[in-house]
Amino acid sequence: MIELEKLRKEINDWDEKIVEAFEKRMEVVLKILEYKRNHSLPIFHQDREKEILEKVTSNLKNPSFKGEIEELYIEIMRISRKRQSIELFPYNIVLIGFMGSGKSTIGKWLSEKLEMDLLDTDSLIEDKMKRNINLIFQEYGEEYFRKIEKNTIKELSDEKNKIIACGGGVALNEENIQYLKKNGKIIYLETKVENIYDRLRGDTSRPLLKNSITKEYIKDLLNKREAYYQRAADFIISTDGKEENKICDEIIMKLLCSKTLY
Ligand code: S3P
Repeated sequence: MIELEKLRKEINDWDEKIVEAFEKRMEVVLKILEYKRNHSLPIFHQDREKEILEKVTSNLKNPSFKGEIEELYIEIMRISRKRQSIELFPYNIVLIGFMGSGKSTIGKWLSEKLEMDLLDTDSLIEDKMKRNINLIFQEYGEEYFRKIEKNTIKELSDEKNKIIACGGGVALNEENIQYLKKNGKIIYLETKVENIYDRLRGDTSRPLLKNSITKEYIKDLLNKREAYYQRAADFIISTDGKEENKICDEIIMKLLCSKTLY
């Protein structure tokens, strides 16, 4: 028993040191963030994370812990990214745009890159209604869907530091926009008809396109909506011909260069 107590005391002492070191490390992370902001340098750097991981695992006194140290550092760097995002984006990053413009996909990429939670309005509605969007339209009609959509947006308006991927019709309603702007910056992902068509051809999950996926139909609907998307947007990002990572970097850069940050 005495022996166990002694070992526990030893653990407590090491924990104290670990916590102290972690606090110091986080303070330096925030100093680096401040420096990068002041000098307009890119903030998130995957190569640097790889470098750190290699460095901390290269000279271990007890190499049998290499796997655990790797795991620990992946988590430490994830926590650092998360903290940096909280400092940089104390507001929501809201993605709007036509069906198939990549809101959910880019939302996921941003969420991973910035360690920010992703809220997808369609998924939230599906969870609430315990049905997919197609079934909701079929059983309750579009008007009812829009009501639930509006309530969902209203509930999201108090969130902070989240990525919000909106359904393609969200921006058509002025009240929705006001709610989203309360704590958020709105990014319109602009996409050409041809690319939307290529992405959605064969898709049966969208009730508004179900029987009518032609370029003409998409063009027509996009023409009707374009002005709403543009009016709602704080920034417009064209997605055509760009890789996801590049689109995310553009969004981050635009937000960080914006003078009207919260
Ligand atoms: C809609 C877009 C869909 C979904 C619903 C209505 C629209 O979301 O909300 O089918 O009116 O454009 P996505 O844009 O994610 O497909």
